[in-house]
Amino acid sequence: MPCAAQYGFCGHWYSRISARALALALGGWRTREPAYEALADGIRLLCLDNRLAPRTALPAERELAASLHLSRSTVAAAYRSLRETGHIASLRGSGSVTLPLQRRDPGRATAADGMIDLQQASPPAWPGLAGIMSEVAAGAASLVSRVGYDVLGSIELREAIAAHYARRGIPTTAAEVLVTTGAQSAIHLVASVLLGRGDRVVIETPTYPHAVDALRRSGARLVGVPVTVDHGWDLDRAEQAFARTLPVMAYLMPDFQNPTGRSMDAGERSAILAAAERAGSILVLDETTADLDIDRGPLPAGFAAADPAGVVRIGSLGKTVWGGLRVGWIRAEGDLVRRLVAARPAHDLGTPEFEQAVASALLTDFTAIAAQRSALLRAGRDAVTDALRTHLPSWRIPHAPGGVSLWIELDAPLSSALVMDVRSRGVLLSAGPRFSVDGGHDRHLRVPFTAPPDDMVRAAELLAESWRSVKAGAPVSLVEQFESVV
Ligand SMILES: Cc1ncc(COP(=O)(O)O)c(C=O)c1O
Repeated sequence: MPCAAQYGFCGHWYSRISARALALALGGWRTREPAYEALADGIRLLCLDNRLAPRTALPAERELAASLHLSRSTVAAAYRSLRETGHIASLRGSGSVTLPLQRRDPGRATAADGMIDLQQASPPAWPGLAGIMSEVAAGAASLVSRVGYDVLGSIELREAIAAHYARRGIPTTAAEVLVTTGAQSAIHLVASVLLGRGDRVVIETPTYPHAVDALRRSGARLVGVPVTVDHGWDLDRAEQAFARTLPVMAYLMPDFQNPTGRSMDAGERSAILAAAERAGSILVLDETTADLDIDRGPLPAGFAAADPAGVVRIGSLGKTVWGGLRVGWIRAEGDLVRRLVAARPAHDLGTPEFEQAVASALLTDFTAIAAQRSALLRAGRDAVTDALRTHLPSWRIPHAPGGVSLWIELDAPLSSALVMDVRSRGVLLSAGPRFSVDGGHDRHLRVPFTAPPDDMVRAAELLAESWRSVKAGAPVSLVEQFESVV
């Protein structure tokens, strides 16, 4: 979310969002009557999924009214409604500022709250993990005899990661691997080393939103290339984007792309590699979801028999084993690894030794872990796919061959309204626009299949109730307009 400089307000520092940027983020907000409540809901959703950070100064009523082609009184009523629900505070002469959300646990909802949390696509810990942790803890004496500050990562783990790539047909040495605290920190580190203000980055849309945040924080300008469940990567747009903008890098998820679940075929891989090479761009491949195969079979070798120098791979045990492990890595040619190592201390001073030792042990038997993961994801996917197809026949529910989520096409552009409504019924989800790079995706909803199958079925039932209510309250033109298109 593009927010400008910091200002003082009531003794706090805060960012400011322009009327134009807020209008863009709101997208198709006009989903019910009265308009001021629809607008207030749109802003609430941006606060809920952190696209509007706490203590962001909203535009003046007059400016937002002009950007949205509304009367000032409609914006004033929306801000009043937001004040009443505690989402913003206003001070005479100083404008309105978003407030931190009042939650018991700012991290996430729990089953104890009676909520089904499908905002994050995070499978439960692999069942054997606790046992491996106990075994590693038994050797704690030798672990704590190490120095502890190691920005490269333990040699045991780097060798295990190199062997993991070799099994996939990508010859790798330990010198080409840097261990990070999860894939997110890897994306951030790569972005901060490779990118400067104004540099272009080609990225899929929809995509993984925290990568967008990390790339934008490095000052990059993102160039979105569409990827769809049915047709995969838009190669014409991709080739144009590389040729016209000469991006410094492209950030892509070739296998079980999050959120579409789509994998690149051989033709897509070679077309994108060739376009990147012509433009002199580095291809950063996020493979956090690459091992989450449900019914495709063994992975292909990748982009080339041996990775060209311009290919950087990011991996993680976050989805295959457990998000709480916080172990990820970067595979890159040796020179780039050295640059990353030199830059890393500004971010952190290494990955915890205990977690690295656990990760080394896990990678020795990764095939069995991946097979169990696949069975777990299959159960969740099949349960939610069947339930959604039964209860919501007007939605296009794709078949996901792997990954963590379904990218569903709704029969009306009401994703944000649906997410707000179903929240009040006990299901937490992120709306389609959260995954967009440059606005849109109001017709899409990401439904992760990482929760237990019973929860997934219940979520589908609640979504069906909610959809009836949201469609009934939507302006007729919006529902009909879409129905005539499909
Ligand atoms: C595509 C993708 N990349 C990176 C991450 C972050 O992974 P980690 O938990 O290893 O930081 C996620 C987590 O959802 C993801 O889906």
